[in-house]
Amino acid sequence: MQRNGTLYTILFAAMVCGVCSILVSGTSVLLKDRQKANMILDRQRQVLSVAGLIQPGEKVSADEVRASFADSIDPKIVTLATGAYDDTIAVETFDQRRAAKDAATSQAAPENPAKVLRLPNHALVYLVTQDGALDKIVLPIEGKGLWSTLYGYLALDKDANTIRGITFYEHAETPGLGGEIDNPRWKALWQGRKAFDDGWKPAVRVIKGQAGPPEESPHEVDGLSGATLTGRGVTNLVTFWLGENGFGPYLAQMRSVGS
Ligand SMILES: Cc1cc2nc3c(=O)[nH]c(=O)nc-3n(C[C@H](O)[C@H](O)[C@H](O)COP(=O)(O)O)c2cc1C
Repeated sequence: MQRNGTLYTILFAAMVCGVCSILVSGTSVLLKDRQKANMILDRQRQVLSVAGLIQPGEKVSADEVRASFADSIDPKIVTLATGAYDDTIAVETFDQRRAAKDAATSQAAPENPAKVLRLPNHALVYLVTQDGALDKIVLPIEGKGLWSTLYGYLALDKDANTIRGITFYEHAETPGLGGEIDNPRWKALWQGRKAFDDGWKPAVRVIKGQAGPPEESPHEVDGLSGATLTGRGVTNLVTFWLGENGFGPYLAQMRSVGS
């Protein structure tokens, strides 16, 4: 075959494409397990951080994260509709985001300002223990910001009301504007606020402007300058997950057990 002929060029290009695609797909398959392990490690790191067991900026190795998680965190599956634990589902393999997409394990969510479209039947929560006793409850939260769906965690005290932390591990808001939801100084403003009002309705919200300290403004968190819409999204999604379609029934049970 002529090396400068058209057929040779086409066959050569096809061969290069074939080899490259085998290499790319092979690498992707080989790295799949490692990617999954890294994702699990990242979630564990986020849970420890929202629970205050890793401080902002603190360098913690993968082994330390795994050890601290195993020591202090008890993952539990909750049936959202009743608020009861379901020990028949394995926490190690449960993927709440996948469950929410599967019609067999989820249902359409009632229309809501957080724009949560589907509700999983079950959710994965984390009990944070200290010296063997319950200290905090970490809840997964998600909902629309301005540009993207925000995924994160909200940590409540064992009283199921006082906020101990909030974090977002995935979003695509604008850095410097809505992206300030990642700013440790802003996240710290949530600590000590009350999630619910006196009638146990979700009450905490991001306001426009500055809120006072938690004793004066128990339900208000400073707005993010130039990012009112992302702030509104955070209010909406926190309200949704604290409410009757989210963790409301579960938190009511936690309160009655704790009191
Ligand atoms: C390029 C660009 C990116 C923006 N990104 C965000 C954002 O991530 N979150 C947000 O709430 N507002 C964002 N805004 C601003 C909103 O359009 C809106 O003006 C703002 O939320 C109002 O907040 P303020 O009342 O505090 O000014 C962006 C605006 C521009 C032009």
